[in-house]
Amino acid sequence: MHFKTSGTALYAMEALAGQIGSCRKCALALSRTKTVPGEGPAPCRVMLVGEGPGKKEDESGRPFVGRAGAILSDLLAQIDLSRDEVFITSVVKCRPPGNRTPGKEEIAACMPFLERQIAILSPVIVVPMGRVATSAIFSRYGIAFPSFREVRGKRFLMSENETGREMSVIPVYHPAVITHNPPARAALEEDFTRLGEILCTLI
Ligand code: URA
Repeated sequence: MHFKTSGTALYAMEALAGQIGSCRKCALALSRTKTVPGEGPAPCRVMLVGEGPGKKEDESGRPFVGRAGAILSDLLAQIDLSRDEVFITSVVKCRPPGNRTPGKEEIAACMPFLERQIAILSPVIVVPMGRVATSAIFSRYGIAFPSFREVRGKRFLMSENETGREMSVIPVYHPAVITHNPPARAALEEDFTRLGEILCTLI
């Protein structure tokens, strides 16, 4: 793992990564190579949450190192953020076989890890990328979720479950959207531009 800062949050994240590493709460544990807890500064200001690790992530144990990761790095650079400045993780920490969408039970089994990460990292902004991460986070934090289209690029408020601390949630398209739907590039870039604008007002 590659955490940039030290202190209590760092130790708590390392302990949590250990728990994730030995988790057997769902069937994804049977097919995974490595768990992918996430990486970035602890605590962090911006936390990006994808859907689930792909092949390269499963092999390396690191988030967003494949094709979607290269797109994500470009999108972050466009809004003057480097990967080192943000914490990157996914809703499920083990690769769904064949990169299928994680199932409801798999998301439910893994969600306590994401919740704990949010509590430890205490981000100013949580950025769910794509419908799966957005719906999981909105439902867990009690935010109405009419559809992904209606919420993307907008700012919502959520209360962190352990401390009640308020944080912003800004859903964006998942970077991988353009690998199967190239015309979605404009919408994806628009979401990150909007994220950059909102970030300027918050941090
Ligand atoms: N897509 C995700 O949602 N997460 C990763 O770690 C990689 C690709």
